[in-house]
Amino acid sequence: MSAQAQPSRMDGTISVVPTGAALGADIVGYDMRQPPTEEQLAVIEQAWADHLVLRFRGNPGLTGEQLIRFSSALGPLDKRPVKGSLRGGTNDLPLEINVISNIVVDGKPIGGLGAGEAEWHSDMTYKDVPPKASCLYSLEIPPSGGGTSFVNMYKAYDDLPPELKRRVEGLRCVHDASINSTGELREGYVAVNDPRQTIGAIHSVVKVHPVTGRKCLFLGRRRNAYLVGLPLEESEALLDTLWAHATRPEARWTQVWQVGDAILWDNRCTMHQRDAFDSASRRLMYRTQIGERLAA
Ligand code: SIN
Repeated sequence: MSAQAQPSRMDGTISVVPTGAALGADIVGYDMRQPPTEEQLAVIEQAWADHLVLRFRGNPGLTGEQLIRFSSALGPLDKRPVKGSLRGGTNDLPLEINVISNIVVDGKPIGGLGAGEAEWHSDMTYKDVPPKASCLYSLEIPPSGGGTSFVNMYKAYDDLPPELKRRVEGLRCVHDASINSTGELREGYVAVNDPRQTIGAIHSVVKVHPVTGRKCLFLGRRRNAYLVGLPLEESEALLDTLWAHATRPEARWTQVWQVGDAILWDNRCTMHQRDAFDSASRRLMYRTQIGERLAA
């Protein structure tokens, strides 16, 4: 469906319209300026478990505080390290908002990731406990390019030939902390020349999703990844096979942005990639990152 602006319904009911692709659905009839009711939240959480990526279209003019309030309904929010710092962009928004933008003001980028391609990845898997979700909201979009694609990592696992399923079971992978998704070296890291020296969290290649109980591939990002204990050539060859398989076109859905769209993705069972766009045009997004709920 091409969901146009979707006014909230008087009776508060919302509906779920799947994209028809391997993942993704529109949530129709929910006004993001209002916190979700219990009933709405239940529909959203079920749709999210079923479709992995949700789009809320037709919410122009949402404030950072409103995005924070919506995202907080799904779990505790991560905070970026320092307000107004160069790292991740100079701005004075609440710490729960990460600005993703190529806009430069007074010589300083107001956000991260610029205008280049962001390679396939899941967010911050170089940490032992990566965020469970991100919510990305568009305030300004370029006339072309800058689309965001997602892949379904349950499908990546389910569609593996049986022999490969057996091979990856029990394997663990090092997830590189040194480079971000646009290829920039993070502050405080040295470039990795040999993936066996990669620094970052170690995760199982096959994970069980804590909500759905389904198995998915968990690959993080390709650059500098290393399958623990394997000879380097074997690790490289197997990772290349898994990455080519996981990012097949039939496992994808692409979000073509409109101003006022918010996309909520499950970081545990999807990966995403952002197309480059003309650096002379402006793209401005707010992103929240949602953590796992701590056990009581
Ligand atoms: C990201 O990789 O988190 C950003 C995606 C985008 O800019 O569309």
